[in-house]
Amino acid sequence: MNSTQASSILVAGSANLDFVVRAPHIPAPGETVLGREFRTYPGGKGANQAVAAARAGGAVTALLAAFGEDTFAAPIEASLRAAGVALHAVRFADTPTGTAFICVSDAAENAITVAPGANARLEPTHLPVLTGVSHLLLQLEIPLASVSAYAAAARTARVSVVLNAAPAQALPAALLSSIDLLIVNEGEFAALTGSHGTLDERLQQLPVPTVIVTLGERGCIAKTPAGRLQQPGFAVQAVDTTAAGDTFCGVLVAALSRGETLAGALRRASAAAALACTRHGAQDSIPDASAVDALLAASSSTINP
Ligand code: RIB
Repeated sequence: MNSTQASSILVAGSANLDFVVRAPHIPAPGETVLGREFRTYPGGKGANQAVAAARAGGAVTALLAAFGEDTFAAPIEASLRAAGVALHAVRFADTPTGTAFICVSDAAENAITVAPGANARLEPTHLPVLTGVSHLLLQLEIPLASVSAYAAAARTARVSVVLNAAPAQALPAALLSSIDLLIVNEGEFAALTGSHGTLDERLQQLPVPTVIVTLGERGCIAKTPAGRLQQPGFAVQAVDTTAAGDTFCGVLVAALSRGETLAGALRRASAAAALACTRHGAQDSIPDASAVDALLAASSSTINP
């Protein structure tokens, strides 16, 4: 594996080709829904977050991801290249590229089923050399053993470790102890803490210095060593919420790697995530820095400490 010497953000995670159908509503178990438009989009939480960090600007971004040697890989790799993401690709001739099957409703909600394919074969030994990396950004669409090994290696190398604990699952204590910043939505937060107690009480249960809980259109809150931050959401006309969380994570880490305060990074990440909801697709929906700047300039949204 090559060194990532020029990189300051390394994302290690999944790359999927998303098969997306729009429909009036998401089918209930046993129900068939007649949908409308069908399209494929480059996706996968790892690849989406790398694209978000790269489009945010200011930091060189690399992605460690696994692919099959098939036609599904090419559109994902083209999207990563176009965004300026440096790719550490691990390739498997006998395993397909990851895919995701997504129904997007007219209410802009989605239901996603992932077939991990090559993502499930990313191993601890695939981690590139961390020289020059300031932030490692991880998710949970690759094996938990690899996520844990990458986090531990980064902690040893004094790289800041950011985990977006998505999709929801319980986490081993050893992994939690290697993380500097945890980002979860409300469902993922409940998977880690249960649902008893107030949000603040549950935040204190997690042995991670900084924890951000995203709250959809209501914004997000953060527990930090210096206290609590709250960022209201940005009102937009949502058409597809796919990759809004990924946009938040990538833009947040890019801002932190540029030396922005957490409060400033939360504001940028929230604005970018809102913009991602106004466009269709995963990587196709992720805004660049100028679009985020324009929304921030037009908005009176503020941090309430
Ligand atoms: O977070 C959105 C992503 O989840 C989609 O792009 C899909 O590939 C799944 O990984």
